[in-house]
Amino acid sequence: MKIHYLGHSAFEIITNDKKILIDPFLVCIKGYKPENIDDIFVTHGHSDHLGSAIEISSKYNVPITAIFELANYCSKRGAVTNSIGLGAWKNYDWGKVVAVPAYHSSSTADGVYAGSPCGFVFDIEGKIIYHAGDTSLSSEMKTIGELYKPDIALLPIGGTYTMDIKHASIASKWLNSTFIIPMHYNTFDAISVNIEDFKTEIKKLGKTPVVIGIDEYFDYSF
Ligand code: NI
Ligand code: MN
Repeated sequence: MKIHYLGHSAFEIITNDKKILIDPFLVCIKGYKPENIDDIFVTHGHSDHLGSAIEISSKYNVPITAIFELANYCSKRGAVTNSIGLGAWKNYDWGKVVAVPAYHSSSTADGVYAGSPCGFVFDIEGKIIYHAGDTSLSSEMKTIGELYKPDIALLPIGGTYTMDIKHASIASKWLNSTFIIPMHYNTFDAISVNIEDFKTEIKKLGKTPVVIGIDEYFDYSF
């Protein structure tokens, strides 16, 4: 399994023959082509997460999985959608996914209420990957750690709108994850961080910080 960082909170998860796309805000990456995507996941309605999801979905006929209100918004605009609520596994031909709470807000750029913001826990090839979306630190992460035991956690670290490095490191401990991948930082000034500080904090916990450059891959096949 490979995790491909597309910048901001956008990732591809690539397995042997499947590819899923998460929060496809694609302004950071040059020349990206959304080819052979099997499913798209969107954590909330903000434009830096919804990104190009509707365009990709309608052009390539790829379903978007999102919370009910956001899925409805997307389907009214031509996307193929799967709506999901918080807290139940949904099965796909490559694995299964549960939407989990995120502490944030969710509306679209044109002011439409987009339901609850969420994160996603993916179970793929027996590996558990948690994409937190935009969220503050919350005790919910203790529950996510206990229930789902994520091997890999993708956490926002930029502050201002989400957790900062300090809170992301506490989240890492509560989630009990081994590999911590930072996101939602250095895209614009309000979320700028020194990424070395992130590495230091995560290493202090005995965990592995995995900083993936834009358009680079983390190969998780061990
Ligand atoms: Ni947001
Ligand atoms: Mn955001």
